[in-house]
Amino acid sequence: MKIYVIYGGENAEHEVSVKSAFSILKHIYYDYHTIIPIYITREGEWYKGSEVKNKETISTEDQLSDLNEKELFSFDELNEEECLAFPILHGPNGEDGTIQGLFEALHIPYVGSGVLAGAVGMDKLISKGVFKEAGLSVLPYKEIKLREWKVDKQNVCSNIESYIGYPMYVKPANQGSSIGITRVLDEEELTKAIELAFNYDYRIIVEKELPVREIEVAILGNEDVHTSLPGEVAKDEQFYAYEDKYFNQESVVKIPAEISDELTKKIRKMAAVAFEAINGSGVARVDFFLTNEEDIYINEVNTFPGFTTDSMYPKIWTKTGIPFDDLIEEVIQLGMR
Ligand code: DAL
Ligand code: MG
Repeated sequence: MKIYVIYGGENAEHEVSVKSAFSILKHIYYDYHTIIPIYITREGEWYKGSEVKNKETISTEDQLSDLNEKELFSFDELNEEECLAFPILHGPNGEDGTIQGLFEALHIPYVGSGVLAGAVGMDKLISKGVFKEAGLSVLPYKEIKLREWKVDKQNVCSNIESYIGYPMYVKPANQGSSIGITRVLDEEELTKAIELAFNYDYRIIVEKELPVREIEVAILGNEDVHTSLPGEVAKDEQFYAYEDKYFNQESVVKIPAEISDELTKKIRKMAAVAFEAINGSGVARVDFFLTNEEDIYINEVNTFPGFTTDSMYPKIWTKTGIPFDDLIEEVIQLGMR
């Protein structure tokens, strides 16, 4: 089977995507597949490189953005023969259903969730509505639309202050990897945080910060949904920011999370419910907040979670009993079904 491994992308998570692609290319079974790398630049150009023949062909991450014998990629190629698209893309224009829509229109099978799940999973406001409908609890939140903000900033700020209260998080509705997110402690910061988030989207979500633990569950499967052991993102500081997620070794993951068996069972069940509620397929990582009172709130479903060697998703499956190589093969098989 010819597999087009597509990575990079025209968004703020470009770098993470390259890292994810690098570690996936180190764990593919090359004997079974013909692997063609497709790099999407930050400007949105698609380049095709020569076949990656084995794990040793790519020795550094830089090689992935500076492909051998690269040429501009034409979508006609995808129609020529039996192939599978493997989008290793995070965030808008990749994980949010847009690229998946392109594959659907071209009748190309692909790895991971479809248009609907990608779009719902990426939108922090729409997904909260879907989770509530499925009976899952979400933390208190409020939406700000750009047009409301433009009309009366003062009014928006005072509404948010009285409804949510400090400390709070201000986030663009559509974004990943904590980009454009600020933890806010006072009114002056609030205005700046809102302006920052509006650089990424025209809808913002503001959420209350509560003293919570962050618990994550990995999903593997299509109709037959498998859940992993829960992992915990353990860190001194409250906010697991972009830099820490990918470039700072100090953020620690604990697998399995130190929680009771009963809670483990409950969270795994909730993760499957959330995945099914957004109509996910293939892979996902479902993120929860756990309070001291053991109340569980769902935060989000990442339809294409980080796959770097330090990422929770592959680590959690290794601990659950599926080594990285087998995991990638299963992910590919799920994309063919
Ligand atoms: N959006 C990043 C890649 C994650 O959730 O892992
Ligand atoms: Mg995320």
